[in-house]
Amino acid sequence: MLVLGIESSCDETAISLVKDGHEVLSSAISSQIQKHAEYGGVIPELAAREHLTNINEVLKLSLTEAGKSLSDLDGIAVTNHPGLLPALLVGTSYANGLSASLDIPVVGVNHLVAHIYGSFIERQDLLDSKTSITALLVSGGHTQIIILSPDGTCEIVGGTIDDAAGEAFDKAAKILGLPYPGGPIIDRMAKDGDPKKIDFPRPLKGKKEHRFNFSFSGLKTSLLYKVKDKELTKQEMNDMLASYQEAIVDVLTHKTFDAAKKYGSRNIVVCGGVACNSALRQRLKDLAEKNNVEVVLTPPKYCTDNAAMIAALGYHQLKSNPEPASIEAIPRAPKLTQVPFFNK
Ligand SMILES: Nc1ncnc2c1ncn2[C@@H]1O[C@H](COP(=O)(O)OP(=O)(O)OP(=O)(O)O)[C@@H](O)[C@H]1O
Ligand SMILES: [Mg+2]
Repeated sequence: MLVLGIESSCDETAISLVKDGHEVLSSAISSQIQKHAEYGGVIPELAAREHLTNINEVLKLSLTEAGKSLSDLDGIAVTNHPGLLPALLVGTSYANGLSASLDIPVVGVNHLVAHIYGSFIERQDLLDSKTSITALLVSGGHTQIIILSPDGTCEIVGGTIDDAAGEAFDKAAKILGLPYPGGPIIDRMAKDGDPKKIDFPRPLKGKKEHRFNFSFSGLKTSLLYKVKDKELTKQEMNDMLASYQEAIVDVLTHKTFDAAKKYGSRNIVVCGGVACNSALRQRLKDLAEKNNVEVVLTPPKYCTDNAAMIAALGYHQLKSNPEPASIEAIPRAPKLTQVPFFNK
C-alpha cells in the first residue's frame, strides 16, 4: 500500500511517500526555521502562510524523488493533532482536497505517536515485541516516557512538569545569544567543553513522587544566573554548554533506564529532535551495554519533524480504517492510551 504523508503541525512542511509502513520512497521537507529565527520561536500565522506557499512544491518534489504520480497512491495520512491550529489547517485541508479528488481514503495521524513510530521504520522486527518497550519522546514541545505494552495499549508514565528538553536547549541558546533552534549548535559547541566543569542541578532526579517526571525550567534559570553580567571566553562558553547539556542527558537517561527496569522492557526507543543529540546518543549506548537493554537510536532524519513517520504510521491506520473520511484539525491531543501499530 502506497501512502502519501503530510506534515504541517509546526514549522516544517513535509511530504513523503512510504510503502507498507516502512519502505520510504521519498521524504521532502521545506523548513521555515530561518523565517522564525528572528522571533526566537515559531509564530503560528507565519507558519501557516509559509505552509500554503510551499506545500505544492513539496508535493512535486516528493513525487519526483519517489518516481511516482498521484494516481499511484492508495491512501493519505496527515498530521491532524496536536499542533498549531493555523498550521494544521493547511495540511488537513490539503489532504482532504487530495483525498476527494483522487477518491482515496485519508486518515488523521497523532504527531507524537508518529514520532514514536519513527523509531520503528527501520526496526519492523520490534512491532510484535512480546515484552514492553520504553519510549523516550524528547521533542521541541514534549518530554515523555511512554510504555508500550504487548497488548497494544500504552501509558504515559512521566513527562515534564514545565519546559520540554528541546525548550531547555532552545532557551539556553537564547540566553547566550546563540541562534534558534539551540539544540544543534549547543551539541556542536559542547563537544569542545568539559561536561564536569560546572555544577548544574539534576531536577527531580531521585524524587520518589516524581520518579519519571522531568523539570527543566529551574535548570535554565540556573544557567541564567551563572552567566549574568559575565563575558565568557570561548572555552568558558563551551564548558558551560557541555555541563548544561550533561545535566539534561543525565536526567533523561537515568529516568528512562529506571522506567525500562520497572516495566520490564528489553528495548528502549528514543525519538523526537533531541534524540539527535550526540552526547545523549553516546550515553544511551554506554548505558545499554551496562544494563543489558537494547537502545534503538532512531536515525536523525526520523527524529526531527518529517513526513515519513506520518505516512508510515498512516499505513497502519489505513489498514484498519480504509473508509473515505474528512479529517479535522485538533490542536490538543486526546489522552494517549493506545498506539495503532504495536502488536496489531
Ligand atoms: N543535536 C541536537 N541536540 C539537542 N537538541 C536538538 C538537536 N537537534 C534538534 N534538537 C532540538 O529538537 C527540537 C526540535 O525537535 P522536533 O522537530 O521533534 O520538535 P517539534 O516537532 O518542534 O516539537 P513537537 O513534536 O513536540 O511538537 C528543538 O528544540 C531542537 O533544539
Ligand atoms: Mg515534532
